[in-house]
Amino acid sequence: MESATIEQLGRHEGKVVSLQGWLYGMRKSGKVAFLELRDGTGICQCVVEASAAEAFENARTLTQESSLVLEGLVRAEPRAIGGYEISATKVQPLQVAQEYPISRKSHGADFLMSHRHLWLRSSRPAAILKVRHTIIKACRDFFDSNGFTLIDTPILVARAGEDAQTLFPVDYFEKQAFLAQTGQLYLESACMSLGKVYCFGPTFRAEKSKTRRHLTEFWMVEPEVAFADLDDVMELAEGMICAIVDAVLAKHQKELELLGRDIETLKKVCKPFPKITYSDAVDILKSEENRIRMENELQLDKERLEDMKRQQEDLESQLANVSKAWKQEKLKAGIRELTEAIAELERDVNNRPGHIRLAAEFEWGADLGGSDETIISRRFDKPVFVTDYPKEAKAFYMKQSVDDPRVVRNMDLLAPEGYGEIIGGSQREDDLEVLRTKMQEMQLNEEDYSWYLDLRRYGSVPHGGFGLGIERAISWICGLKHVRETIPFPRTMGRLEP
Ligand code: 4AD
Ligand code: MG
Repeated sequence: MESATIEQLGRHEGKVVSLQGWLYGMRKSGKVAFLELRDGTGICQCVVEASAAEAFENARTLTQESSLVLEGLVRAEPRAIGGYEISATKVQPLQVAQEYPISRKSHGADFLMSHRHLWLRSSRPAAILKVRHTIIKACRDFFDSNGFTLIDTPILVARAGEDAQTLFPVDYFEKQAFLAQTGQLYLESACMSLGKVYCFGPTFRAEKSKTRRHLTEFWMVEPEVAFADLDDVMELAEGMICAIVDAVLAKHQKELELLGRDIETLKKVCKPFPKITYSDAVDILKSEENRIRMENELQLDKERLEDMKRQQEDLESQLANVSKAWKQEKLKAGIRELTEAIAELERDVNNRPGHIRLAAEFEWGADLGGSDETIISRRFDKPVFVTDYPKEAKAFYMKQSVDDPRVVRNMDLLAPEGYGEIIGGSQREDDLEVLRTKMQEMQLNEEDYSWYLDLRRYGSVPHGGFGLGIERAISWICGLKHVRETIPFPRTMGRLEP
């Protein structure tokens, strides 16, 4: 007997195979049971006739998510999910599952997150994790095939690489250590040896923000290149993003469809990406045109909200008038989904006047906030680079501009459709004295960074790089509302389990 996986059933057509997996769902009557088996590679329907008496009896004991081994004949069936069906002759339960907490009806986001260890078995999280895998592989392939060497940078570090406010302290024998916020400073060292390097690792930030963009533990891929200026860094970022999007489009049409992602907007992602300066962005935010546009959008969303509320009332009155249990369940699930969507849109609509005001009153010098990035990125149908931020708004290591000493040679890449920053990067300050002055201004202790300053003492060269937040990239490419769905076990301010 050959053992098979669901994905590869086609190779076994006409043969009897054995499959192992879990029961995703079942319909049964007196004469036949239809088992939906999932095995991690796909889902397939297995038909058990009452004439296969033992198999049929065993099938009837199975509950949702029971584990089992099954044998049967592989038949082509154009109407079946994967194009094949099994006529099962043997069904052997491995463990009959207790009542499974996640059913086909809809659950609230918080319930699902608390059951993340089980929720991973559902088709939506599984689709997202597959896309995640492809995105990570595409990043690695991109750098590996462009002459980069992988450098694993430390996770336990002595001090801040970014904003000191978001450091996670760790007890390190008699000293205090921190969890790494970036591998960049170490990469700057390594690129002076190997030219083009990258790291790919977990990154930690004690972010006290409960936004859809923030995790406390996330994964970042960071390249660093010697003899590179900001234009080189942007070209590299552009190439990497296109490679990632192409890989996902080539491999995951099915998953994107399941997630309800509009693929047409992804297909527009090609070189070159538009570039604007921070000052251009401020002009957009403060413009009368932007205010009018935002007021109009708000008005449309308010009308949409009223529509949804009417729809909800309608479903509720239908619920009062149906008696069949399955119809009630279906209506209740619809109402629950609508209630969540209404709550979300309502929050958004209530926040919007604040965002409109923030944009209108934006002062040159501040960092762009989440709502500002949303406004800018919705103006473009491709990712857009925003360059040359005021130096006060950004990290100490960024290179001061020669043309305008008020700004640094940095870039943030904002993903379209309102997603906002997915990449932050810059050319680095390579002049020892300028860097020392900058560190003094920012009240950083020079001795703490003495090894970093050595890189400017011994053969300093123009260099730069960037960091891509993997979860932000997945969130955008999959069209998700929140980054917490993009990582197997999310860590946020309010969640450390499961
Ligand atoms: O802009 P950031 O802070 O840049 C750096 O860390 C640089 N040292 C990178 C470099 O130049 N080598 O972070 C880079 C990216 C952001 O654009 C965002 O995508 C992601 O990391 N990121 C987060 N993702 C999820 N949750 C958070 N709390 C994040 N903070 C940053
Ligand atoms: Mg940033």
